Amino acid sequence: MNADVWNGAGRRIFLQEVGTRDGLQAEEAFVPTAEKVALVDALSDAGLAKIEVTAFVSPKAIPALRDAEQVLREIRRKPGVVYSALVPNVRGAERAIESRADELNLVMSASESHNLSNLRMTREQSFSALAEVAAIARSAGVAVNVSLSCSFGCPMEGEVPVETVLGWCGRYVGTLGAHGVTLCDTTGMAYPTQVAQLARAFRERWPDTELTLHFHNTRGMGLANVLASIAAGADRFDASFGGIGGCPYAPGASGNVCTEEMAHALALMGYDTGIDLEKLLAAAARLPALVGHDVPSQIVKAGPRLALHPHPADFEQIRERALARAAA
Ligand code: COA
Ligand code: ZN
Repeated sequence: MNADVWNGAGRRIFLQEVGTRDGLQAEEAFVPTAEKVALVDALSDAGLAKIEVTAFVSPKAIPALRDAEQVLREIRRKPGVVYSALVPNVRGAERAIESRADELNLVMSASESHNLSNLRMTREQSFSALAEVAAIARSAGVAVNVSLSCSFGCPMEGEVPVETVLGWCGRYVGTLGAHGVTLCDTTGMAYPTQVAQLARAFRERWPDTELTLHFHNTRGMGLANVLASIAAGADRFDASFGGIGGCPYAPGASGNVCTEEMAHALALMGYDTGIDLEKLLAAAARLPALVGHDVPSQIVKAGPRLALHPHPADFEQIRERALARAAA
C-alpha cells in the first residue's frame, strides 16, 4: 500500500498508550496506586484506543509496578478501550487474567543478547515459555499480542536481520495464533526507510494480523518513523504521554515517542486519532509532579501550535513607530 502520507483525509490511526507501563517502569519514584488509576482513567477519557495499563512481572525486577492487580481492579473501564498488560511468564499470565486484562502483551526480543539480558532466557526458551502462556490465554478467551523488542536493531549486537524479525513474527502469528504483533524499537535505532521496509513486509505477509509499531525517541527519529510506517500501510502506534519511558536493560535508552506530540501532528495532517488533545495534555501535565522531574514532551512545554501568546506590552508603540518611519 502506498498511502499519501501527507494527506490524512480522515484516515483512522489508532494510538495506544504505554506510558503507565513502559514509562513508569523506568521511574525511580513509585507513583501511588490511586494516581496511577486516575491517570489510566484520564487516558481512557482522552480517547486512547488501547492502554497498556501495567506489567505483571516480578516486583523485585520492577518495583514501580508492584501494584499491578490493584490498578487493573480499580480503573474505570470505558467501553471500546482495550486494557492490556505486559506479561513475561505463566505466573504473570495467571495474575493478569485474574485481574481481567483484555489482552496479554507477551514480550521477547528479536536479538539473543537483549533477550538474555532482559528476560534471562534464550529466544528459544522464551518462545516455548510464551507458547505455554498463549495457551493459557486462549483457554481463558483473552487476546494475545506479542511484542518483539529490538526489531530494528540491538544495542549489543547491532543490526538484526529483517528475516530474523519476520521469522519470529511468523512463529508467533502462525504457530501460536497471536492476534497482534508489535515491532519494538526498544532503543531508538530505527530509521524511516528501514521502518517502511519492515512494516510493508509484515503487512504483505500477514494482512489480517494487528500490527503495532513501538518507537522510542532516543535519537529524535520517532515521529519520522511514525510517518514512514503510515506510508507503508501501518495504522497502530504505541506512544507514551509526556514522552516518558525507557528500557532498564538498554543503556542510554529514553522515552517512547510522545502521545500528545503524535496526536497533535497527525491531527494537523488530517488524520483521525480519536484523541481529545486538551484532555491528553491535562493528563501529561500531571506527570512531572508525580515522577519528580521534567518530562520530554514538547507540547506540554510549548502548547499546541495555535496556543497563541499576547503581543508585547509596547506593541502599539512599535507599530506606530514603524508606520511613522514608513511615512517619512
Ligand atoms: N509475577 C510476580 N512474581 C514473579 C513473576 C511474575 N510474573 N515472575 C517471577 N516472579 C518472581 C518469582 O516468584 C521469584 O520470586 P522469589 O525470588 O521471591 O522466589 C522471582 O520473581 C524470580 O523468579 P524466576 O522465575 O527465577 O525468574 P527470573 O529471576 O529468571 O526473572 C523475570 C524472570 C522475567 C520474571 C523477571 O526478570 C522480570 O519480571 N523481569 C521484568 C522484565 C521487564 O519487565 N522488562 C522491561 C519490559 S521489556
Ligand atoms: Zn518500549
